[in-house]
Amino acid sequence: MNGLTSFAQQPPKFDEEFQAHFANLIAWRRDVRRFIEKPVPEQLINHILDMVQLAPSVGNSQPWRWVSISKKASRQALRENFKKCNSEALANYKGEAAQLYASLKLEGLDKAPLQFAIFCDHATPQGSGLGSQTMPETLDFSVSGMISTFWLYARAFGLGVGWVSILNPEEIKATLKVPDTWKLIAVLCVGWPEEEHIDPEMERCGWQYRTEAGRIVLER
Ligand SMILES: Cc1cc2nc3c(=O)[nH]c(=O)nc-3n(C[C@H](O)[C@H](O)[C@H](O)COP(=O)(O)O)c2cc1C
Repeated sequence: MNGLTSFAQQPPKFDEEFQAHFANLIAWRRDVRRFIEKPVPEQLINHILDMVQLAPSVGNSQPWRWVSISKKASRQALRENFKKCNSEALANYKGEAAQLYASLKLEGLDKAPLQFAIFCDHATPQGSGLGSQTMPETLDFSVSGMISTFWLYARAFGLGVGWVSILNPEEIKATLKVPDTWKLIAVLCVGWPEEEHIDPEMERCGWQYRTEAGRIVLER
């Protein structure tokens, strides 16, 4: 740890005030695609990366591998990758949906000061396969869960995170020269948001509203 946080030495009691703050954090986390031109202090991002190491993972395998996409050529390749995949995706929509899709901003790759590719290392010896023998995909789930922790904790410092998935993963692996056993889970844009909202951009643009579908708990 780098001094930004010191942990309680006894099990903490999370009081109502904390619960209310945490509920607000969940409600005000957003997928952010518009960033102001202001760097993120290295100490801050390092602290957040330290903290997310505490995220849960199958067999405690911690299979996430972070790559910072910082070189000009790598960023250019990433933008080209997105452009190509996005125009292919657009071709799959017709009529009004195509018009709406074309108007959406689906990445923040132009301005985000930090850009990361996060992989899952399927060859990690950590955890010795515990919990992932019948469901190898639990390694990927672990990385996804860690990203959720990152997303929320970054937001607690006012940082915005945007997940970009309209990409060709194999091309990204080639661009970033990562081992074959690494699977791309996410590309994240990170920086200071241009604007803040309590509702998702997908709702504001009329693409997809929140529904109750996921709230239903089946009784069996
Ligand atoms: C796995 C995953 C992939 C996503 N990929 C994209 C993407 O490529 N482009 C984009 O604009 N948003 C992407 N998003 C963000 C979602 O659109 C966003 O989470 C959703 O609309 C709800 O908005 P909110 O995160 O602001 O609550 C992705 C989110 C997840 C979890």
